[in-house]
Amino acid sequence: MTDNNHKLDHSYDGIEEYDNPLPGWWKWLFVASIAFSPVYWVFYHGGAEGRSVHDIYDVALAENTRLQFAEIGDLEPNAETIVRYSHKKNWVRVGEVIFKTNCISCHGRNGEGMVGPNLTDEHYKYIQNVEDIAKIVTNGAGGNAMPAWKTRLHPNEIVLVSAYVASLRGENVEGGKGPDGREIPPWPEAPPEPEEEATP
Ligand code: HEC
Repeated sequence: MTDNNHKLDHSYDGIEEYDNPLPGWWKWLFVASIAFSPVYWVFYHGGAEGRSVHDIYDVALAENTRLQFAEIGDLEPNAETIVRYSHKKNWVRVGEVIFKTNCISCHGRNGEGMVGPNLTDEHYKYIQNVEDIAKIVTNGAGGNAMPAWKTRLHPNEIVLVSAYVASLRGENVEGGKGPDGREIPPWPEAPPEPEEEATP
């Protein structure tokens, strides 16, 4: 309890002051929150992959989307489907999350290439047609330098990440790795929308 009767021994023009210090528990909370703040900051904002609110949100979104796979049914890894989904903004975003979760360690955060080739230029090593992206993602390439994802990703995820990879073409991200392989003909045009589609 604070002592409300203890007056400080000064008086300014007759104005006097009680000595009511902040309670000890309050001061300790204050000190403790300051001591805790660098830990919090480093954990959530220090740049570690997967911890920022944005990353956590993306993961939650991807979880939610998996539930919505029920609505789009089983996607076929063919050219028509990949091109169609590479033009659906919401689903490209889902493909992007799959890419950010699984592929950036080798292909770079924006597909600019690291160990793996640059996916944002016009040159490809194994890809001739757009559906080859899904084949390479499914089965891998280069004696496992590019891993096979068929046992690790849902077939729809393979189609959606392929659609995202297809959408990266021509972005020529700054600081990207030099071209691998040869230049290939453009992807086919997007087919007209068959009907109203479910979106996440
Ligand atoms: C362990 C590193 C690694 C990971 C993870 C990885 N890749 Fe690759 N990827 C490679 C390498 C290396 C190559 C090139 C192989 C070669 O040159 O023989 C490659 C090639 C490719 C190609 C063919 C590019 C071309 O020019 O023909 C595509 C498409 C691709 N990866 C997509 C993906 C996707 C999508 C993911 C995530 C699901 C992924 N990769 C994850 C290393 C990786």
